[in-house]
Amino acid sequence: MPSSEYLLEVQGLRQYFASGRGKNRLVVKAVDDISFGVKPAETFGLVGESGCGKTTTGRTIIRLCDPTAGRVFFDGREVSGRMTNDLRKYLTDNIAMIFQDPIESLNPRMTIEEIVGEGLKVRGLKDKAEIRRRVVEMLVKVGLNEEHATRYPHEFSGGQRQRIGIARAVIVKPKMIIADEPVSALDVSIQAQVINLLNDLKEELGLTILFIAHDLSVVKYFSNRIGVMYYGRLVEVAKGDDLYKNPLHPYTRALLSAIPQPNPLTERTRQRVDYVPDRDHDYSTEQPTMVEVEPEHFVLCSPSELLEYRRRIAQNV
Ligand SMILES: Nc1ncnc2c1ncn2[C@@H]1O[C@H](COP(=O)(O)OP(=O)(O)O)[C@@H](O)[C@H]1O
Ligand SMILES: [Mg+2]
Repeated sequence: MPSSEYLLEVQGLRQYFASGRGKNRLVVKAVDDISFGVKPAETFGLVGESGCGKTTTGRTIIRLCDPTAGRVFFDGREVSGRMTNDLRKYLTDNIAMIFQDPIESLNPRMTIEEIVGEGLKVRGLKDKAEIRRRVVEMLVKVGLNEEHATRYPHEFSGGQRQRIGIARAVIVKPKMIIADEPVSALDVSIQAQVINLLNDLKEELGLTILFIAHDLSVVKYFSNRIGVMYYGRLVEVAKGDDLYKNPLHPYTRALLSAIPQPNPLTERTRQRVDYVPDRDHDYSTEQPTMVEVEPEHFVLCSPSELLEYRRRIAQNV
């Protein structure tokens, strides 16, 4: 059953991809039994290195892939069951996705007005003047202007294209945005602007955001809660502050140690740590499970690791 605390709830989700036949058959466990929830109006950061299954998680939630196992609920309704026209409409009305590469996701032959207004048309709005008015209103909201409406995607910079992608996603008033590495392809100087824009829109429109990133530095400042993913599994889920204060899983510690420090003194002494699963865990006799070590702080650990983590938290508090 879904919990009323969450807008989006993922339970035991698996997404396996099979390729080849017979002896050559290979199964990639892109997402391998993950559970988490995103509360209304929060930003949940989903973090992990390239290939760990973040995009697949997003795509499976909005049903660009059918899940191998597990259940997903949105606003109390199961969205992982049999696909129907009604369910497809429910998903597209409620969840919009923003992609990493704004140029690949914008049709080069469509004007900005057509791109941003497409969702309104699909929903049956026919009045051209009204579409135009709403598109311009949206362009202004994302920091562009009316004269941009008649131009084509190639005439814009990377940051502007991402603003267009955001306008297209938000114009249909979804409850939730899944932003898949929306700033990874942008210059560092532009990244903060796009993140600020997303945050402003979130406040103004009451959006809930699932923000996907491959490192912690991007999500650190604005995620209410963060889930850390490693090879298809979630290894730690916690409030942002708790994750920085008390990172428990060795992979989370490795990710944190990779963030450059703004203070030159601490930056000089920053020690990078690696995560080596075979060295860092002994799962030969005990299997790891996801355990709530302190309120709202979950970590994938074995019983003996749990004792150690509890001890560490007790010392730090
Ligand atoms: N459609 C697919 N068919 C086969 N394998 C896939 C497919 N999509 C993703 N994968 C594999 O699943 C794993 C996770 O990919 P992805 O979700 O894109 O990771 P991330 O977004 O974290 O970089 C990778 O090993 C990737 O090659
Ligand atoms: Mg990805």
